[in-house]
Amino acid sequence: MSLTRNAAIRVVSPEPTDLPLGIAHGDQATVAELTAGLLAPEASTSPKYLYDSLGSKLFEAICELPEYYPTRTEAAIFARHGADMARRIGTRGTLIDLGAGNCAKAASLFPLLEPKQYVPIDISRDFLNEAVSRLRQRFPQIMMEPLALDLSGEFRLPGSVRSAARTFFYPGSSIGNFAPHAAIAFLRQVRENCGADGGLLIGVDLIKDSTVLDEAYDDAIGVTAAFNLNMLRHLNHLLGADFDVRQWAHVAFFNAEESRIEMHLEARRALTVRWQEGERHFARGERIHTEDSYKYTADSFASLLKDAGFAVQDVWTDDAGWFAVMHAKACSE
Ligand code: AVI
Repeated sequence: MSLTRNAAIRVVSPEPTDLPLGIAHGDQATVAELTAGLLAPEASTSPKYLYDSLGSKLFEAICELPEYYPTRTEAAIFARHGADMARRIGTRGTLIDLGAGNCAKAASLFPLLEPKQYVPIDISRDFLNEAVSRLRQRFPQIMMEPLALDLSGEFRLPGSVRSAARTFFYPGSSIGNFAPHAAIAFLRQVRENCGADGGLLIGVDLIKDSTVLDEAYDDAIGVTAAFNLNMLRHLNHLLGADFDVRQWAHVAFFNAEESRIEMHLEARRALTVRWQEGERHFARGERIHTEDSYKYTADSFASLLKDAGFAVQDVWTDDAGWFAVMHAKACSE
């Protein structure tokens, strides 16, 4: 990300000031990353900052909205084609759940896939351990190996993960929150960890009518708006910043040229935001780009998988063709 500054941006010296700044609770790397993004000519933040504890609850609420079709459409694909998936993937393997959260999606496939070992991976150890202790009671026959790992860089699975018949599970179309080049880099990492006979089962949101897309990310009762705006409260906590949430508006739209939903926060009036490491003036209407959600065709995603070292074996979709679950095998190198 470029740090070139424009006239609207001024970096504040580290000396004490009389500004009413709060106390920052983010670590140094987080503060530096956020500061760089907020001071860039086109301000942006990583979508990971949408997920503090309230943000995670708001995302769960989004998944229940009538407008947000991905969750229920993907669930219907698993319900309808789960048995076929198990036939194609094979049973008694090692199921590795990327970004497992409460593990519910993978658990719904246990009766079909009958994994020998289940390896849920999530950045939050506490959340994961809670989910896994419940699952151990329901499925005592499955070995469970929860891993608290940050998958944003290079990663290697530990030796405790069975190397035989590894299937990586990445549902929910979370791959869409990576830019395509970053999605390829991430999936290459997955490929590296697959072993000779490994594969991937992944949920992909497909390009569709832009009204359907726009409404999915700008719902009538404003849950997605609250999810996006809540990031400002999170930034206040991490940076000790003084964002006034009421002065910002949620903006989301499908950018057809880039094939992505973009989410932004837009200043309702000219304002200045201050935090310990910086300050920035935003003109009325100026935006902070908070998230992209890329949409693919089955073919364009198959080609992305190929670039990452996978060959598509199966594609299951809903009748309307809104969402796809794809099964791919690691190609030998
Ligand atoms: C987590 N991810 C797949 C969601 C999406 O659809 O891109 C995040 C989201 N953002 C707004 N609504 C949902």
